[in-house]
Amino acid sequence: MAMRTFAVVVLCAVFLGVRIIAGGKEDNVPTTNAYCKIVWLLGIPCEQVNVAIVTQIKDMASYKLVSLAPKLIQANHTSGFGQLERVNFTMIPTSMILGCHLQGTSVPAVWFSLFDNGANYCNLRNVIKGSGLDKAPGFLEFTNEWLCLGCGQSAC
Ligand SMILES: *[C@@H]1O[C@H](CO)[C@@H](O)[C@H](O)[C@H]1NC(C)=O
Ligand SMILES: *[C@@H]1O[C@H](CO)[C@@H](O)[C@H](O)[C@H]1NC(C)=O
Repeated sequence: MAMRTFAVVVLCAVFLGVRIIAGGKEDNVPTTNAYCKIVWLLGIPCEQVNVAIVTQIKDMASYKLVSLAPKLIQANHTSGFGQLERVNFTMIPTSMILGCHLQGTSVPAVWFSLFDNGANYCNLRNVIKGSGLDKAPGFLEFTNEWLCLGCGQSAC
């Protein structure tokens, strides 16, 4: 699983101009919508990652917990303009090291724009940064402009 992820994702890079999201390669990536998917690797157990994310989401007024399970945390995020985004954090323990493979996805609840100015990226990034998980041992973040619209231009 971890090896496959390494092969599929590359580091976030900036691409200029209009981009077409390549459909069909990644399962359930919407082709006509602002969307963000980020993969993180952390050298701490998923239980610890789960607690840190839930604590951080509860601490932020713009987020609302929808559901909570050991492997999936779902939340809603309301942005400044009243737009609602749905956010998922999925945790899978890594087999080779005692670590956690964490995947975050953010999509608007209703279609509003192909260009989201990094809103979906920031929805995910702000939780990870706020929780301090970006300081965890072995922390690595993977995404790119095809997996995460706006990731190159956003400043959260
Ligand atoms: C989250 O947003 C969805 C709409 O996409 C809504 O149906 C649901 O009630 C919301 N849940 C919470 C807890 O706000
Ligand atoms: C979150 O996970 C649920 C259950 O697997 C799925 O139905 C939903 O589409 C996911 N939402 C996002 C934003 O990835």
